[in-house]
Amino acid sequence: MAPSNTAFSKNIINWYKVNGRKDLPWRKKTTPYRVWISEIMLQQTQVKTAIPYFKKFIKTYPSLKSILHASEDEILALWSGLGFYRRAQNIFKAKEIIKYHYKGKFPSKFEEIRELPGIGRSTAGAIMAIAFKQPYPILDANVKRVISRYLNINIAERKNFDKSMWEKSELLKPDSEIFDFTQGIMDIGATICTAKNINCEICPLENNCLTSLNSIEIIKNKPKKRKVKKEFLDLILAYTDKKILLFKRDENRFWQSLWMPLEVRDENQKVIKIKNAVSVNTYNILHKLTHLDLDIRITMLKFNKVFSVSSNMEYSWINTNEINNFGIPQPIKKILRKL
Ligand code: ADE
Repeated sequence: MAPSNTAFSKNIINWYKVNGRKDLPWRKKTTPYRVWISEIMLQQTQVKTAIPYFKKFIKTYPSLKSILHASEDEILALWSGLGFYRRAQNIFKAKEIIKYHYKGKFPSKFEEIRELPGIGRSTAGAIMAIAFKQPYPILDANVKRVISRYLNINIAERKNFDKSMWEKSELLKPDSEIFDFTQGIMDIGATICTAKNINCEICPLENNCLTSLNSIEIIKNKPKKRKVKKEFLDLILAYTDKKILLFKRDENRFWQSLWMPLEVRDENQKVIKIKNAVSVNTYNILHKLTHLDLDIRITMLKFNKVFSVSSNMEYSWINTNEINNFGIPQPIKKILRKL
């Protein structure tokens, strides 16, 4: 017999009240704005990594009003090092929509929130549940795992797995105390019923969980082989005693819209006159992105003074002590700090 839906949510809510990670910074002062920023950060970043970035972001932009006039570059600068920069660009686009379409007020309807850039069904559900205390279901990887184990639904055997899991998530959510429930199920997935370890002995769902009750051995998904391509990135960094020449990356691939040294391509050959440099140094770095290993070569050219550049690309000679104000990829930043 299927376990009762209310037992599921009650056990989670009671567990959260005692054991939940209530001191996570986004769980205090849960304004829609703070919940939105945290949910976007947590889409592809673990809690531990997200905490310092969230604190820095909120220190710079404590409220929705304070971010309304931020530029895309300013938001990207705060994201520097966190990866998946499209998320920061979507925050910029979404706040522009909020500024012009919602008069600077965060929308409060699920459908409106769902339409903002970067927000899918689960993120919109999390904002509704955590910020507006409305009973909407969520389905991120942790929640999917907890529910599928509770009901002993095997991912591998199910067609339309996600559709059916959304139905389960909808059925299992409570009508009240949705805040504690949503945060609690996330915490159980992240700390007790994890992909690698299962701690049924301390799980509040143990007595009704079909996987645990039947001592079903959990088929661990084989770790997916990382499919990686290798790409060579040839960069030229022009600098003087005080300044660095950076270009805004105009590619719709990795590191889009971040500030970088010049990428060597045929059409860029004449942008920097190498013969005027007073010293030359070369660094090689290997940097792993999720689906790409980058083999980067940076040729560092020192010049006596800045020069103007004839290029269609957006560029800027920035002060060396200003690099933290620009969205610059982490491995490039490391090299710049050595100057
Ligand atoms: N993952 C996604 N949203 C989260 C939240 N609000 N707390 C902890 N982990 C999360």
